[in-house]
Amino acid sequence: MTTAVPITKRIFSGAQPTGQLHLGNYLGAVRSWVIAQAEYESYFCVVDLHALTMPQKPQELREAIRRTAALYLACGIDPKVSTIFIQSHVPAHTELTWLFNCIAPMNWLERMIQYKEKAIKLGEDVNIALFDYPVLQAADILLYQPHLVPVGEDQRQHLELTRDIARRFNDKFGNTLRIPEILIRQEGARVMSLQDGTSKMSKSDPSDLSRINLLDTPEAIRKKISKAKSDQILGLRFDANRPECYNLLNIYAILSGESRETIEAEFGEAGFGKFKPRLSEVIVEYLKPFQSRYAEVVGETGYLDTVLRDGSERASYVANQTLKEVREQMGLIPPISFSLEEGSVR
Ligand code: AMP
Ligand code: TRP
Repeated sequence: MTTAVPITKRIFSGAQPTGQLHLGNYLGAVRSWVIAQAEYESYFCVVDLHALTMPQKPQELREAIRRTAALYLACGIDPKVSTIFIQSHVPAHTELTWLFNCIAPMNWLERMIQYKEKAIKLGEDVNIALFDYPVLQAADILLYQPHLVPVGEDQRQHLELTRDIARRFNDKFGNTLRIPEILIRQEGARVMSLQDGTSKMSKSDPSDLSRINLLDTPEAIRKKISKAKSDQILGLRFDANRPECYNLLNIYAILSGESRETIEAEFGEAGFGKFKPRLSEVIVEYLKPFQSRYAEVVGETGYLDTVLRDGSERASYVANQTLKEVREQMGLIPPISFSLEEGSVR
């Protein structure tokens, strides 16, 4: 290992600024970030360039980028100990993507499940960046040489690819890049849609009824839970063959902190009519502190901008060290500085 290797243990992660963060994002990912920041030097990125791989309305995207950053703060990411920044504010991400594009085999990317799923939805409209998405993700991560990357289950394949790209780089050019470990918590790693217990809760689902957004009002939460898909079987159980029932009970278990046994003892004879209002109230209470912190963050003029400016400065410092080393190892020469006064190239 050479110079760009960190001494303190690091983590890196990110989320796309499309729509709003939802309960799945929080339970699957952001919650682990909050826990990890006490122990690790942490970098949390709003991956706006990833969002551009799908059609976005510019004004909505601008709002979503700021909202996502503010939600990181509202969820408990502390800018005094963690670095919060916007991906496109650190140009090293796109530059390293190009360099990795030159070593990443097409057929590794052709295997990516998320690409295949999105490409089917888009039909003719698939852009090059959607295909290249995982290479940008590898660049995001490897620039910071993290030891650990906490994500939800759906990101496992992208993280494996990141590790493969790092290994390939190291094999070809020398042992520069740390191979990061993947951290996927069991609990909450896959929160499912409220409308279909077999597909994950997702920002891109056209139906807002399918997810609980962190900023949903109590009325919206009650409505979404009362309309959540359920089944006709009496008695509620953690039964994997009843995906909707399992998902709702699982959300209840995580948010209430009660054990599965306690929950089954309470609702084992009951139906959804009794359970759903209880679940709504647990969610409403759980989200209250996030929502009041969010109001504080966006209410303080200039605060978010300061956090993001400091964040991109700190992130750039680390990212540029790795980028410089990768550039040199691949055979590029450093930029030649030009002095106007002397009119000469140094
Ligand atoms: P995304 O919204 O796709 O940018 O995801 C941001 C983070 O949230 C990633 O680490 C995802 O793995 C995680 N995540 C997204 N959806 C879910 C879900 N339904 N359940 C658990 N984790 C999720
Ligand atoms: N692809 C990730 C998602 O959709 C977001 C992401 C981009 C990411 N770059 C990352 C997550 C780097 C972890 C690390 O969830």
